[in-house]
Amino acid sequence: MTIDLGARREVVEAAYAEHGAAGTVPEETLEVTPRRARPAVAEDSPIAGGYHLRPLAWADITRVAALEVELFGASAWTMGMLTEELRGRGRWYIAAQPDGEGVPAPLVGYAGLWFDGDSCHLMTIGVDPRVAGHGLGGAMLDALIERAREIDAISLLLEVAVDNERAIAMYTSRGFTTIGLRKRYYQPEDVDAYTMQLPLREGAAGS
Ligand SMILES: CC(C)(COP(=O)(O)OP(=O)(O)OC[C@H]1O[C@@H](n2cnc3c(N)ncnc32)[C@H](O)[C@@H]1OP(=O)(O)O)[C@@H](O)C(=O)NCCC(=O)NCCS
Repeated sequence: MTIDLGARREVVEAAYAEHGAAGTVPEETLEVTPRRARPAVAEDSPIAGGYHLRPLAWADITRVAALEVELFGASAWTMGMLTEELRGRGRWYIAAQPDGEGVPAPLVGYAGLWFDGDSCHLMTIGVDPRVAGHGLGGAMLDALIERAREIDAISLLLEVAVDNERAIAMYTSRGFTTIGLRKRYYQPEDVDAYTMQLPLREGAAGS
């Protein structure tokens, strides 16, 4: 996973305490759950190699949970964690799917972000290992960056395991830089995480 949901909860609660029920969070970005996702990624946005992006749907959750286990092992999000996450406010999740397949089955990639009213946080991104290296991860990341810009976020932030060279290369290729180290962030693996940031506005730290 990109985000350790337990560790992130403190940040979420602090942000909601600060912003309140409505606060400074733009209305259209509240409760951007998959069912209500405003398709800034159009229903079917073509990407390279016979795949397209679409909003994630509730019917995708079983498939996402299976991919989570395959991709993240012991720290995979469970069905319960996924449900809680997708119901959260300010979320925006997308799926990558082969062309010609019915909606919403069967996705080969998924990614999502959370807008806290100031910055966006990359919550997770994953691609089926059988189709890795075909540009799907990069295309989903580009869509999330575009979305974060659209809603005028200051920056896009993420955590990544220090030994995840492939993901770090992907983030670096999009302009993210490392701004911090979170010791023993991923549990139970007990692995450190880098915090990486992509500034999106003039004046954001690092821009
Ligand atoms: C990381 C992940 C999402 C990348 O998805 P992908 O579809 O394989 O990636 P892409 O083919 O779009 O490549 C994106 C970038 O990754 C990097 N990359 C891809 N394959 C790589 C490889 N074999 N070695 C090093 N870097 C590689 C490149 O920087 C590439 O940049 P480019 O778009 O300029 O070519 C995917 O490998 C994955 O799901 N990994 C397991 C889950 C995970 O670690 N998620 C991130 C949590 S922080």
